[in-house]
Formats: sequence, C-alpha cells, structure tokens
Amino acid sequence: MKFFIDTADLDEIRDLAATGLVDGVTTNPSLIAKNGGDFLEVIKQICAVVPGPVSAEVTATDHDTMLAEGRHLAKLADNVCVKVPLTPDGLKTCKALSEEGTRVNVTLCFSPAQALLAAKAGASYISPFIGRLDDIGTEGMELIGQIVEIYANYPDLQTEVLVASVRSPMHVVESARLGADVATLPPAVLRSLFKHPLTDKGLDAFLADWAKTGQSILGK
Ligand code: E4P
Repeated sequence: MKFFIDTADLDEIRDLAATGLVDGVTTNPSLIAKNGGDFLEVIKQICAVVPGPVSAEVTATDHDTMLAEGRHLAKLADNVCVKVPLTPDGLKTCKALSEEGTRVNVTLCFSPAQALLAAKAGASYISPFIGRLDDIGTEGMELIGQIVEIYANYPDLQTEVLVASVRSPMHVVESARLGADVATLPPAVLRSLFKHPLTDKGLDAFLADWAKTGQSILGK
C-alpha cells in the first residue's frame, strides 16, 4: 500500500519524505488555508520535494472554470494530480482532464455509487473520506471494502482507492487488510505507525546489555 501525506506543511513534508516512506501528498483548500502561503507556490514547492503525485484541488464549481483551473494546476509540475469534487461538473472535468493525460483525484466520496461514477469518469484516484463517515455514526471502513470489491469486479478500471480522512493507525491497518491502494495520512498518524511500547522497552534492554560489554561496533 502506498502512503501519501495529507498536509500542506512543507517542513512536515520534508521531514517525513526523508524517511523514504512517502509516495505522494494530498492537499485541500482547508489544509492550504491552515498552512498559509501562496497556493500555487506551495504546490510547486511540494512537487519539488516529493516526486510522487501531489494533489492540488480546484476551487470552482462549474465545469468550464474547473477545467481551466485544472489545466493551470497541471502546468505547475509534472507530478501534479488535479483534485476535483464528486459532483456532476467535477466528474465532467475529471473525464476531460483524464483524456488530456492529467491525473485526477476525485474527492469527497461517501458512497460506493459515487466511487463507481468516478471510475467511469477516468479518475486516477477515488478519495473516500472514512473519518467523516465515522463522525456521523456510520462505519467508514465498510465503504472501503465495498469500493475495493466493486473495482475488483472490473479489472480494466484503472482507478486506485485512496483512503482519505484517516484518523488513526487502525484505519491504516484495516485499509491495508482490505486491499486499498493508497492511504493519505496526517503527519501525526504516519508517525504513530512507528510506535510500539514493546519496541521501546526491548531497545532499552538491548542497549543497556550492550553497554555492559564495553564494546563498540565501529571500534571507537
Ligand atoms: C484528503 O485528500 C482529504 O482532503 C483529507 O483526508 C480530509 O481529511 P479530514 O476529514 O480530516 O479533513
């Protein structure tokens, strides 16, 4: 499973990209507003740090303007992936941009029917928002299972399932068990995946025992 990071914070992106575990980045207008800075400049800088797909979202709601915005965003860097909302105009734009060779991430997906439409529109990625479904008392993870199952019935579909609105390590583990292609993780969730108290405890014990030997691997 690929890991994208869900942030527009360049310091976080640089720090986490250095782990070698980051395959891409997703942003949205809220993350851009939270981070501050000029949107187009921020996207260019992120694209220079992470070679994988970097999602940049259009903000118009009508097809013609969305298409113009998408084309403009796609010119910023080769690895820009244009993000459009799951609306009729958004999917029309998705189809047009995909046919031009631009990768498109269809966002704000909350049902398997919507995911099917996005795949038919040629989306490179569908972004089901699981945390927001959990927030309203439904089981977000069920949606991932349904989309993975539906897409598997049609092997010609190229759309990858990009799990979004991830809130916890268990969301990541369950997504992997279900066979999702990508999870986009807030930086804190990615960092939390490294953690296990028995790893810390075991390492402390090994280092304490090693110190008793008085040796050094590098001979210093
Ligand atoms: C990613 O593409 C989404 O914009 C993001 O995961 C939304 O997460 P949120 O529900 O925590 O805002």
